[in-house]
Amino acid sequence: MIELKLINKKNKSLEYNKILIKPIKLKNRTQLSFVYRFPTKDITKNYNHTKSVLKIKEYLKSNFSQAIAFTTIGDYHFIVFPNGHSKIKSTKPSKLKNTDLSHNKIKKRLISPKGNIYLKALEVVSENDLIKAKMNAKFRQINKFVEIIDSFKSVFEKLDSITVVDMGSGKGYLSFALYDYLHNTLKKITNFSAVEMRTHLVERGNSIAQDAKFTGLNFVESTIENFEVKKTDLLIALHACDTATDDAIVKGVLSNAKLIICSPCCHKQIRKEINATVAIKPITRFGILKERQAEIVTDTIRALILEYYGYKTNIIEFISSEHTSKNLLITACKVEGEKNNPHSILQQISDLKNLFGIKTHYLESKLLNS
Ligand SMILES: C[S@@+](CC[C@H](N)C(=O)[O-])C[C@H]1O[C@@H](n2cnc3c(N)ncnc32)[C@H](O)[C@@H]1O
Repeated sequence: MIELKLINKKNKSLEYNKILIKPIKLKNRTQLSFVYRFPTKDITKNYNHTKSVLKIKEYLKSNFSQAIAFTTIGDYHFIVFPNGHSKIKSTKPSKLKNTDLSHNKIKKRLISPKGNIYLKALEVVSENDLIKAKMNAKFRQINKFVEIIDSFKSVFEKLDSITVVDMGSGKGYLSFALYDYLHNTLKKITNFSAVEMRTHLVERGNSIAQDAKFTGLNFVESTIENFEVKKTDLLIALHACDTATDDAIVKGVLSNAKLIICSPCCHKQIRKEINATVAIKPITRFGILKERQAEIVTDTIRALILEYYGYKTNIIEFISSEHTSKNLLITACKVEGEKNNPHSILQQISDLKNLFGIKTHYLESKLLNS
């Protein structure tokens, strides 16, 4: 098991909203760590297996009505109904395995707040190296992102130097953290371009990079579309709006990036295009469902196109949906000899478009039909 989440609080008097349970190693014994998530803090308790099972049973009886178990072979969603009946649904695995269960490793984040110049400048960390209360979620997001990149480190291990492009870097939270990890932890010569169209963010980013002595990190004022990517090993685009994510993917594919990681933002292009066939029309009757459907269709076609270009692709949950619904991450890793069937992929894209009455998917028009 990678993680077990207890959710959907039914005991309203509880102060915590959910419990995240993970295996950890303590003094060479595997235990389960229970993180009780309160609105403004987390409290962690560790239990042995017997006690954990009793606790989980008790919580599902009185406090929570749902549990999701994330494992390497599948996700299992267990629901207890008010009448006491229950059901279990399984889907493909959505989380990456944490191979290191040591307690210290869990506590020791890849990005530390201690003496961290850029996290202070970005107002994530206070003058005395403490994470500011309102920036806890951001700090977790930064670390989670770096952990995900770390799970792909075999892609970079043989390289002495790495070229990275961050498309739509904003204030640069992730650019700084990723540069820090590649340059200071992996000890790679890192040429990092953080591309952003807003002037004041570019100026501020470069000023912080100078203070942090991150000489290989440059914030560049440009649109994603106009930024020329010559050669890149890693391309990221986190929450670049609507089709800006597609423009970023185009740059990644055409520059033969080894790894493309993007977290899509709004999905307006496909939402406007959807003209559902009779069978699925009821789903698109409700605005919110149409929006979610647009997200799913857009990102599925993005994943298929990346597979068409030889990428091993996955879509995972990046951060908890509690903080934002824009929490998916598309990971695409170039694998030599990856045998994706191009005809079958094109057929799947065509079938999906027909089902949803879509004439054009922006990424398809930029890559496949150009
Ligand atoms: C929501 S922010 C995300 C920032 C950062 N990637 C993160 O996740 O912390 C999106 C950023 O992308 C920039 N952006 C959106 N479309 C862009 C485009 N076409 N070219 C360059 N920057 C763009 C916006 O100005 C904004 O700063």
